[in-house]
Amino acid sequence: MKKLATAMLVTGLIAAGAAIAQNAAPSQASVDVTVDLSKPGAPIARQIYGHFAEHLGRGIYEGIWVGTDSKIPNIRGYRTDVVNALKRLEVPVIRWPGGCFADLYDWRDGIGPRAQRPTRINVHWGGVTDNNAFGTHEFMDFAELVGAEAYVSGNIGSLTPYEMGQWVEYITSAENATLANERRKNGRDKPWKLKYWGLGNETWGCGGNMRPETAAAENARYTAFVNAPREMGMIKVASGASGNLDKWHDYKAFTEEMMKNGGPTFGGHMEALSYHYYAMPPDLGPKDVATGFTEEGWAKQLHYTLDLDRQLKDVIAIMDRHDPKKQTALYVDEWGTWYQQEKGSTPGFLYQQNTLRDAQVAALSFNIFHRYTDRIKMANIAQMINVLQAIILTDKEKMILTPTYHAFDMYRPFMEATPYPAEVSKAQYRFGSIALPLIDVSAARGKDGKLYLAIVNTDPKRAVTVRTNVAGKAARGQILVSDRMDAHNSFDKPSALAPKPFTGLIVDGKLVVQMPAMGVAVLAVD
Ligand code: AHR
Repeated sequence: MKKLATAMLVTGLIAAGAAIAQNAAPSQASVDVTVDLSKPGAPIARQIYGHFAEHLGRGIYEGIWVGTDSKIPNIRGYRTDVVNALKRLEVPVIRWPGGCFADLYDWRDGIGPRAQRPTRINVHWGGVTDNNAFGTHEFMDFAELVGAEAYVSGNIGSLTPYEMGQWVEYITSAENATLANERRKNGRDKPWKLKYWGLGNETWGCGGNMRPETAAAENARYTAFVNAPREMGMIKVASGASGNLDKWHDYKAFTEEMMKNGGPTFGGHMEALSYHYYAMPPDLGPKDVATGFTEEGWAKQLHYTLDLDRQLKDVIAIMDRHDPKKQTALYVDEWGTWYQQEKGSTPGFLYQQNTLRDAQVAALSFNIFHRYTDRIKMANIAQMINVLQAIILTDKEKMILTPTYHAFDMYRPFMEATPYPAEVSKAQYRFGSIALPLIDVSAARGKDGKLYLAIVNTDPKRAVTVRTNVAGKAARGQILVSDRMDAHNSFDKPSALAPKPFTGLIVDGKLVVQMPAMGVAVLAVD
């Protein structure tokens, strides 16, 4: 048996060598990747694979919550198919209830018997009504059910610090006190574990139109009144800048002000500062379509994505200047693609399809986050279900996993892995005036001791031979690839695009990978 295996391996290597020789025609691109195993970075926080679920469109209602009387199979009102899909991903953290929604949300609307909860108008998102069936208990129980940490964003824009403090006490107190007893009366005896508390959202915009100095001062004020039991170790997250609005909002000046003056005084520090960036045209310019786009749309979309790297360098440099000990974490708690919403979908619901291009955006974004692990400790895709760059789409009883879901799934070994710098020789994918790195790589040692390589070929037409300095005996993993830029899953064809097994080759003891055009691959090297 062993002999046969060895023979097959040798034949495989010969075939691999031949394949490389044959494919080395002038049109076949080739790059060299050098992984520096002598420079381990800070571990990749598992929260970098976090999610964001807002009361927006069909993100919460229909996407997560169908109610206990629904014909759609559910666990205490939560869709069973969605719960299972999220469990598989080992979702580390979910941010809720917004977004812009957070700064108009009164937590008292979402507690107590459901039939008695008030119905409010969701002013930001389509002006539709929200009957508050999904409130604090439903969210905290849902997070527990899928095994994720809870990240709740409080309302700085239109409620008082006192009300915010009361909400935190309601969720976290174990005392025999009025708010904890009210929670008990509403069905939850033990306090929930509340790991993250957001102090508002986009305070410079929908969270209150604040000048940077006001935002920093408000953050400091609210921080003082929001306190969970110390042993819970709750982290407070200051609402930070956005990289999307150059004309109206200077992300560097905003970050500077928050770092200078945003944290509590008396020797404390701001524990985390957020940042938002959507991969879309600058200053909310005309949005692309989610499917049926051109090669120009492909190239521009990846270009917008990679711009996040430049912005994060700026933000981190400012943070480093004010906080050289890196005590304040950076949370990119909204990121993702933003296209025109699907024709026929409800205005304001931000429902969009999701293609191989989105999987590329996800993979390139993960690779960026892996490069700044000493500062970036959380990232949350916007949004989890049925909204923007969703990982899951639902239509009544049907559910599909998007290419972005598959990218999250393939990258799971990177959670808590130790990253290494990976240098890629200069080779570009060009379209008109846009030039992108042809191959983007992330390398990390997983918790299982294996070295993992994530490789993205940005070129929609060219296959690339990726020669690495990584020594090994074999490399196996998965690839997400298609010959269509907008390959996607639909409710009729839910598995049109799914990861396939993929192997690297070992040539002269080193890993060589034949990356097809548009491929996103993750390989484990033995
Ligand atoms: O994710 C949609 C919206 O984008 C969020 O509500 C807001 O924070 C951001 O502007």
